Amino acid sequence: MRPENLKTRIFLDGADPAETRQVMAALGFLDGQTTNPSLLAKNPEAKAHKVSGNKFSSTAIYDFYKALCQELSAMLPQGSISIEVYADAATTPAEMLKQARSFDTWIPNAHIKLPTTAAGLEAAAVLTGEGRRVNMTLVFSQSQAAAVYAATGGAGRGDVFLSPFIGRLDDRGENGMDLIRNILAMYAPSDGHVEVLTASVRSMAHFQCALALGSDIITAPASVLLAWAEAGKPLPRADYTYKAEGLVPIPEEVLSLNKSWQDYAIGHPLTDAGLEKFAADWNSLIDMQA
Ligand code: E4P
Repeated sequence: MRPENLKTRIFLDGADPAETRQVMAALGFLDGQTTNPSLLAKNPEAKAHKVSGNKFSSTAIYDFYKALCQELSAMLPQGSISIEVYADAATTPAEMLKQARSFDTWIPNAHIKLPTTAAGLEAAAVLTGEGRRVNMTLVFSQSQAAAVYAATGGAGRGDVFLSPFIGRLDDRGENGMDLIRNILAMYAPSDGHVEVLTASVRSMAHFQCALALGSDIITAPASVLLAWAEAGKPLPRADYTYKAEGLVPIPEEVLSLNKSWQDYAIGHPLTDAGLEKFAADWNSLIDMQA
């Protein structure tokens, strides 16, 4: 059962249906699931293909991803399933649009994950204009969040998720939770068409802090969700404080949300590195000769 006062939607970050079943059984509810190429590469069946030297062809990988998303969607028909486009630094908006429109036919409850780069934002503007749902991923700055808001103006509430990656900011010594706080504050007076999905959650402290801040959605790995279930699904008390020991604070910026998306600083080194890693993990599953 969902805790009575829980307002945040809880997603599983993973790409293994057996794990989804386990988490659903432990929690008694689940609001959605996020996938990405790195998680796909950890899927037991995908891993077995790779280890046995029987990699996917460049078309079979999409069939595999589609079947996986269909299985997840059948388990979570009322929830949302995020499906990520393949993108590297050279991928054009047109190539992202082609994948996105195809993914959108796979299941009725897809959010299409696009990188928060100029190409991804251009694709997001087109897709939301077509009434499709997107999840803007690899977000590491408040100005990227402002750009997402501007690029997707006019979208319906719930149609746009924004995924700031807190764990990866922590990894380089910055307090990722500050970014969530800053973006929520920036979006508070807005029309609410972009929902904040706290991603790259590594610990129960991240999870509890995101709840305390009022993140619209949190996606967390099975290990964190199972530990939360085991602890009785506690919610943070009103006096909850997050201990960001050894992490440098990320100051809040004052940004207007009224500019065009091209006018915001979009680039971030962690977005570039993340894109590269996702592309490498996707390609590691493919037999380039097939
Ligand atoms: C989810 O949408 C993200 O892709 C995921 O949370 C990234 O997590 P990581 O930084 O642990 O890879």
